[in-house]
Formats: sequence, structure tokens, C-alpha cells
Amino acid sequence: MEEKKTIEKLLEEAKKVREKAYAPYSNFKVGASLLTEDGKIFTGCNVENASYGLSLCAERNAIFSAVSKGERKFKALLVVAQGEGTVAPCGACRQVMREFGEFDVYLANTDGKIEKTKVSELLPKAFGPENLEEKY
Ligand code: THU
Repeated sequence: MEEKKTIEKLLEEAKKVREKAYAPYSNFKVGASLLTEDGKIFTGCNVENASYGLSLCAERNAIFSAVSKGERKFKALLVVAQGEGTVAPCGACRQVMREFGEFDVYLANTDGKIEKTKVSELLPKAFGPENLEEKY
């Protein structure tokens, strides 16, 4: 699929799953769609909790869902929320993205504004799995 079509599809899927967000505390609904290297799309929304700290972001939900199905190689992730600008993933999600290497990340809003970035740009000089290979 050409890049423009792929992004359109990712945006559509992320907007669809965003409607399922459980966000009664923040009222900030987020949707994420994740494209695997072999062309599958996994999605996730944010799921909040009365014990606030247990809330799960849309991006991590999508990544964990893909990993649970055996997927570990990702081409692109798109995250969408409502607002004038595009949504910025939290630090925890950036670290979880980094675990699975380098891929494109599209930050979007529900009006279709999209900004392209990538994991290494969102989290430079990151700690990652390779750091644990140097055990002594
Ligand atoms: N949230 C996400 O799901 N992804 C982001 O990129 C930003 C923040 C969620 C967490 C919480 O449920 C709500 O948005 C407000 O922080």
C-alpha cells in the first residue's frame, strides 16, 4: 500500500478505536493503531481506572495487544486525540515503543492533522534492551 493510503487507514482505525476509550476521569479519549512489518494492524484505546495510576494509554494498549499475538516487528504507530495540535505520547509509552526498535510514529488529531516522527526522535539517547547485553 502506498504511504498516504496506509496513513489514512491507520488514522481511520485509530479514530474508530478511540470511540471505545474508557476515560471517565480525564475525558481525554485516545486511539492508537499499530502497523506490523507484515501488514497487520493492531489497535488500542486508553483505559482509565478509579485508582488513577493504573490507567493504560492507547499506545501501550495497541503494542501489548500486538505482542500478545506474537508480533514484535513494527513499521508505524499512529496516535490520535481531539485537540488543536497533535497528541504527544507520554514518556512511559515512548520507552515501551523503544523496546521494539525504530519505527515511524504519526501524531494526529481527529481533524486529520498529522505529524510524522519516529521512535528515536521521541526518545533520544534511550535505555534499551541492548544495554542489558553488556552484563559483567
Ligand atoms: N493518554 C494516552 O492514552 N496517550 C497519550 O499519548 C497521552 C495520554 C491518556 C492517558 C489518560 O487516560 C488520558 O490520556 C489523559 O492523560
